[in-house]
Amino acid sequence: MGNASWWERAVKVLPGGVNSPVRAFKSVPGDPLFFKRAGGCRFIDEDGKEFIDWCLSWGPMILGHADPDVETAAIEALREGASFGAPSRREVMLAEAFLGRLPHFDQVRFVSSGTEAVMSAIRLARGFTGRDIVVKFVGCYHGHSDSLLVEAGSGLATFGTPSSGGVPRGFTDSTAVLPLDDVPALEAFMNEHGEKVAAIIVEPFPANAGLLIQRPEFMQACRDLTTKHGALLIFDEVITGFRVGHAGAAPLLGIMPDMGTYGKIIGGGFPVGAYATRQDIMDCVSPNGPVYQAGTLSGNPVAMAAGLATLHKTGQPGFYEDLERKGAKLQAGLEKAAADNGITATVVRQGSLIWTVFQDEAPRSFAAIDGTKMEIYGRLHRGLIERGVYLAPSGWEVGFVCAANTDDDIDLTVAAVADTFNSWS
Ligand SMILES: Cc1ncc(COP(=O)(O)O)c(C=O)c1O
Repeated sequence: MGNASWWERAVKVLPGGVNSPVRAFKSVPGDPLFFKRAGGCRFIDEDGKEFIDWCLSWGPMILGHADPDVETAAIEALREGASFGAPSRREVMLAEAFLGRLPHFDQVRFVSSGTEAVMSAIRLARGFTGRDIVVKFVGCYHGHSDSLLVEAGSGLATFGTPSSGGVPRGFTDSTAVLPLDDVPALEAFMNEHGEKVAAIIVEPFPANAGLLIQRPEFMQACRDLTTKHGALLIFDEVITGFRVGHAGAAPLLGIMPDMGTYGKIIGGGFPVGAYATRQDIMDCVSPNGPVYQAGTLSGNPVAMAAGLATLHKTGQPGFYEDLERKGAKLQAGLEKAAADNGITATVVRQGSLIWTVFQDEAPRSFAAIDGTKMEIYGRLHRGLIERGVYLAPSGWEVGFVCAANTDDDIDLTVAAVADTFNSWS
């Protein structure tokens, strides 16, 4: 049975045929591919065709698919029991490895997804400060918990309105939504409401509406204004954690948040999330404190084992330098492919996170992205599928470079992109 037959069956039994919406190819032409198996940076679909995968499960697979060390560690743990619901050594070991890389935090609590990590961190920030308002920025995604599914209110109203059906208005009216890259708007908001703000949450390199790299002044303002008003700064590092560098984004920016949220890479492909902070804040979490948070599968031994093996390999000397070199090679190749074929494009990159936008400069805010150009991405996506290269099925999503990518993979990809552009002229 091939992709088409699986898709026909899927749409009958799964809403939209999928278990997470972007997978449904609503933003690009064609129907989804069904992944049959994957290894390194490649996968084979149910039609038996091979692809170079630049989506890599949306980020967790920094070593590539089916890394042998991760696989061995996970199988070893699985043979000892899939889940205990009780303390076990691998959660301690992963916490030690995690905190060893992030010395600005004292403790970490493991959960089962990025959404759960952020939801719990927000609850903790509210519990610790005794305040309700959380500030988030347009274009940043922090998972699908109710209070964070918001869009900016119109006009002067900065408090959010639900952006999803099923979220009562009351769930989002303590979430303020502000634009990225706008220090005066943030200052004005904090001057008016600062004493009621529990936390500002931001992706340190916003990577959920393309890659909106911020000016250092903006991130510094987030830090300074939270400190000034007694609020907490939360860096949502679900994508950037252990991805953009040895310790994620915070040391690269030279800005230390009060809390951090993590996911993806720390589970090595298994469902894991985490939130980390300093001792006085973490003391508020149950069982030590009044902020409740729990999970049947939290600290799952198989996921902990896969995470440990992944952190171990990413901790080897030269690991991030190698990713940086590969990312730079891909970026240069894509820029040349666009220029050679008269395509207006900007390739934005932070280490192994990469995003191509079809406009002539890198946007720093959601409003600066020309959404009408996403149609070009759709055509590129289709052209690349025909040429054996798989990108995320939406132009708003970033691409991921992994340790398993070779120079050949990059050259083949760039050639496929150039050939696709060329076929349009
Ligand atoms: C920055 C950020 N936070 C939170 C999440 C939610 O994580 P999950 O999909 O594991 O629930 C994501 C997901 O991509 C994310 O990119």
